[in-house]
Amino acid sequence: MTKAISEIMVTEADLKVADVHRRWLLARHPLGPVKVEDFVYVEDTVPLPPPGKFLVRVLWLSIDPKQRLLMNNMPRNVEQVPLFGTMFGMAVGEVVLSKNDAFEVGDIVVDLFGWQSHAIADGRGHYVNNPYGTRRIDPSLGPISTALGVLGTGGLTAYFSVLRELKPQAGETIVVSSAAGNVGLIAGQIAKIHGARVIGLTSTDAKCHTIVRDFGYDDAINYRTTNDLSAAIRRIAPKGVDMYYDNVGGSIAAAVSRTLNSGARVTLVGVTEHYGEVTGAGKAWTWPQRDTMSYFIVHDYHREFDSGIRQLAAWIKEEKLRYREDIVEGLENAPTALVDLFGGGNLGKRVVRVAANPPGIA
Ligand SMILES: NC(=O)c1ccc[n+]([C@@H]2O[C@H](COP(=O)([O-])OP(=O)(O)OC[C@H]3O[C@@H](n4cnc5c(N)ncnc54)[C@H](OP(=O)(O)O)[C@@H]3O)[C@@H](O)[C@H]2O)c1
Repeated sequence: MTKAISEIMVTEADLKVADVHRRWLLARHPLGPVKVEDFVYVEDTVPLPPPGKFLVRVLWLSIDPKQRLLMNNMPRNVEQVPLFGTMFGMAVGEVVLSKNDAFEVGDIVVDLFGWQSHAIADGRGHYVNNPYGTRRIDPSLGPISTALGVLGTGGLTAYFSVLRELKPQAGETIVVSSAAGNVGLIAGQIAKIHGARVIGLTSTDAKCHTIVRDFGYDDAINYRTTNDLSAAIRRIAPKGVDMYYDNVGGSIAAAVSRTLNSGARVTLVGVTEHYGEVTGAGKAWTWPQRDTMSYFIVHDYHREFDSGIRQLAAWIKEEKLRYREDIVEGLENAPTALVDLFGGGNLGKRVVRVAANPPGIA
């Protein structure tokens, strides 16, 4: 029987893409800190897109603290990685085959493509909380990997939480936890752009030194080697703290809370300290519902993502904002990259280079 032209084209194009589909699956729901043994590596053949879908060759994979939460065994209505499902993760990739009118071969796109070398997508998004679906990246705004960091969720989180929730005023003092991480590094600088005095908390002297020298922090404290964190903050902020940018929750948040001025503003962005915790009931910790506790979620601002990205890119061009990528080479190292993130191993946005960028794309 004669084949349709479209079928012949798919077969020819498929010969040009890598023939092995590499993936990390969730091998077990961990209780406690994430371990490399929680994942299993598999290889099979690259899938072909059915009508309406397209095939993405993954180039960059995001490594985030939240990925630990997605590994929990939670009720069906909560976003979670199914057992022996491909591990979730935002990723940047190149469309290499398309049977979808909205996406063309060569498009550079970002979505929750997962810990794998190739993904099939339909453009509608693969994330319970991703109302904007697959997003086409404009490579003229910056290196495409930054769509996972400063020009992606991390940068947008910093942008909207600082400007819409904290609203820093000139001369105010802000404390930022996880200050050398993806979100923290950008949040501190945005507060600084708006005239605040910025104090960063992080886990090593080297990171403290770098955020002050290279990223505009006025002061930094190594919270791991400081016996009384509240006293250390009071020493460098004798007039008290006006804003707290909370990335970690737990004991660090408790120490900062003792330094806050009356009427201080706090934005609760993340609680990394809790992500691998086991509750008293022997269950994995997870976020409470928002009607019982108020916290920031970047997706609330998804309609303004494009303007936020344009502003962040403009600040980078004007040299008002700097970013750092912490690049781990090879998909095979994704589990180690996540485990090490919880050891404080990253400075800036941790990404895995899964494959080289296409020619001509930075
Ligand atoms: N609400 C939202 O919409 C939204 C969006 C994006 C991210 N987030 C959250 O924001 C937080 C920061 O995200 P990110 O992408 O910028 O990650 P990140 O700060 O780059 O995460 C890694 C850093 O977390 C710190 N850390 C790891 N384990 C810790 C622990 N047990 N206690 C305290 N600190 C620990 C370490 O920094 P140190 O070396 O400084 O300890 C590590 O370098 C996360 O909690 C994330 O889930 C929220």
